[in-house]
Amino acid sequence: MRHSDPAVAAPNAAETVDPWIGRTIAGEFDLVERLGAGVQGTVYRAEQRPSGRSVAVKLLTGPNAHDMQHRMRFLREVRALELLDHPSIVGLLRYGTLRDEGPESGGLYIVEELVEGTSLERVIDTEGALAPARALDIARQVLDALAVAHRHGVVHRDIKPAHILLRRDGFGHEQVTLIDFGLARREDGFDDDDEDLTQAGWMLGSPLYMAPEPLAELPVGPAADQYSLGVVLFEMLAGHAPFRGTLETVLLGHAVDPVPRLPLEVDPTGELSAVITRAMAKSPSSRFADPRAMSAALAELTGLFGGEDDTLIDPPSAELLARFAEHEAERARDGGDGTGSVRRSRAPGERSRRRSRWLLSASAVAASLAVGSAAAAASPWF
Ligand SMILES: Nc1ncnc2c1ncn2[C@@H]1O[C@H](COP(=O)(O)OP(=O)(O)O)[C@@H](O)[C@H]1O
Ligand SMILES: [Mg+2]
Repeated sequence: MRHSDPAVAAPNAAETVDPWIGRTIAGEFDLVERLGAGVQGTVYRAEQRPSGRSVAVKLLTGPNAHDMQHRMRFLREVRALELLDHPSIVGLLRYGTLRDEGPESGGLYIVEELVEGTSLERVIDTEGALAPARALDIARQVLDALAVAHRHGVVHRDIKPAHILLRRDGFGHEQVTLIDFGLARREDGFDDDDEDLTQAGWMLGSPLYMAPEPLAELPVGPAADQYSLGVVLFEMLAGHAPFRGTLETVLLGHAVDPVPRLPLEVDPTGELSAVITRAMAKSPSSRFADPRAMSAALAELTGLFGGEDDTLIDPPSAELLARFAEHEAERARDGGDGTGSVRRSRAPGERSRRRSRWLLSASAVAASLAVGSAAAAASPWF
């Protein structure tokens, strides 16, 4: 079950019927090609007059343009991006209201830096699991972006592979750009007036990557971004998300199930799994203190997995092999399963009591999500 941005895969088909192609927005942005669409709007590649510079234009048009929730999400993105200036966070160039567009007047637009690359979602779909060195590099760049966002009191709340764009810089190094701050929340109280909207929006976000906080009716703070990135890191390394199946199974997984261990061939010593398990701790206070702390933990492992070079899958380093042998010896001594602090043991009775309590809550959320999806399916703009 993957919640992908639906129109990303078929830009050519969309281009032939999209009435916006060839139009000029705000007197200076010629819309050239449709890049994708999400829950919120449609994104185009545009050329800015008179320079011809390529930019990305996100439009909120059609019936959603008159819907307060969608307008608020657009505004959220603008407010968050206005605060943030970082090479791994998409740059905001302009925004405004569409004028002189006939029935579409009153719609909203955001002009952003164009990321000429691909999404992590597409990379995982086409290439499967990533080499650990590459996955760690991507995760650490996202953490760098999150550190800046959190320092400014901005929580992204929709971290997932479709919102992590990848491009190569002049030296061939893979660069991350974090996009879609439409669910972002500012911790300075700016957004407090519409918490119901964002709580609902968060629920409708991406269950595969969702932190358990909303299920426990806890506030969704910065630690939720870390949880979602933990899920993304697991998916990059394993080729699939840690909790899969029906919506209910996924929600229950987040709520009560232990984080699965990565395959042994990917993570022989369990150290990567330990980092992911900590990032995905059920209780926000048990996670890393902040993105920087998680990044430091990953940095310690980078050397074990072939370092910075993301073009080669190196054989295991001597150090990795030595640590593996040490770990195996320790495991033989303890007679344990080798996961160290990764799993906490719990009495079977306690586990099933916890599951049934959460099952009720997950069923309620699943039901409300089903209603949301039905409403979404009925709208031509989703
Ligand atoms: N700045 C950008 N550069 C290139 N492609 C982009 C950019 N912003 C968005 N996209 C593409 O458009 C898709 C939808 O964008 P997103 O911001 O997630 O919209 P929504 O708020 O509607 O979910 C993305 O998955 C990506 O493929
Ligand atoms: Mg999106």
